[in-house]
Amino acid sequence: MAENRKQIAVSGIQASGNLHIGNYIGAIKQFVELQDKYNMFVFVADLHAITVPQDPKKLGAQTLDAVYTYLACGLDPKKTTIFIQSHVPQHTELGWILNTITPLGELERMTQFKDKTKDQTSILAGLLNYPTLMAADILLYNPIAVPVGEDQVQHLELTRTLARKFNSRFGETFKEPKALIQKDGARIMALDDPIKKMSKSGNANNFIGLLDSEAEIRRKIKIAVTDSGKEIKYDPATKPAISNLLIIYSQMAGLDIKEIEKKYVGKSYSEFKADLAEVVLRALKPIQEKYNKFAKDKKSVLQILRDGAAEARKVAETTMEGVRAKVGFLEALQ
Ligand code: TRP
Repeated sequence: MAENRKQIAVSGIQASGNLHIGNYIGAIKQFVELQDKYNMFVFVADLHAITVPQDPKKLGAQTLDAVYTYLACGLDPKKTTIFIQSHVPQHTELGWILNTITPLGELERMTQFKDKTKDQTSILAGLLNYPTLMAADILLYNPIAVPVGEDQVQHLELTRTLARKFNSRFGETFKEPKALIQKDGARIMALDDPIKKMSKSGNANNFIGLLDSEAEIRRKIKIAVTDSGKEIKYDPATKPAISNLLIIYSQMAGLDIKEIEKKYVGKSYSEFKADLAEVVLRALKPIQEKYNKFAKDKKSVLQILRDGAAEARKVAETTMEGVRAKVGFLEALQ
């Protein structure tokens, strides 16, 4: 089948709810574009989600919510294998094995680990081992490419290191995958502080949720911080706030930043913001409609996930059979 000749790409996204336009522009939109080019595996990383405490009563619903959102954004189960990380136990199994060849120092120097633990007195091991599980997520599928945000590049570098270490210790097994980083819009900044990344854990006015109401979207854009001066110009060094809004405009409208700048010569920040709100609303409306449609059809979505996990397990198990043999485990007894 032609499908099988396509090269593989793998990516995961956190299970936490409330995905926002930063996630959409920086990641989901890219997956949707890549699914024609690659044989994609995309999963909701619920095992990673629990490296920070989650409410057991909400985790499952949040996981499903992320799936509805992916589907609503255009991820297509006919082209992409969509599944939940914890439904494919090989992720945990390979993660463990990789831990045994990972130097502690490598994990301790990861920027994300340092950021997440800087105010904590009692640090949990799961947070430290987060990157080895991520390496397992990737290497199980032997992908050529991993579409990720800029903040994940270091984890990908570690993944390549672990692939090399495993290969040199146990024999050629894994390919070293490349990060596919979206240049434009990879980092959408907070609306209330353009120096910080847009984040669902920050103040609610800092992000536009993909499911925010029309009134909320207009309000958040209206109160978004701007820079001094009044020109609508892309210049991240001196105009970080307007530059961020221009990126959002450009990504949501599918226009070049240059064209947008031209359109707003001599216009005010408030005119620009009013139009930006329309652009965002127009882009999010079909996503919200599809979200509602999928959320009402939970049964079909669960079937997509069942099929996705079955397909992922097949590929992952083939990899693990090789890995177990190379590590030297006694063959499983039937
Ligand atoms: N750590 C990634 C993030 O925070 C999510 C993730 C988990 C991932 N496993 C992955 C991304 C494997 C790419 C490949 O965005």
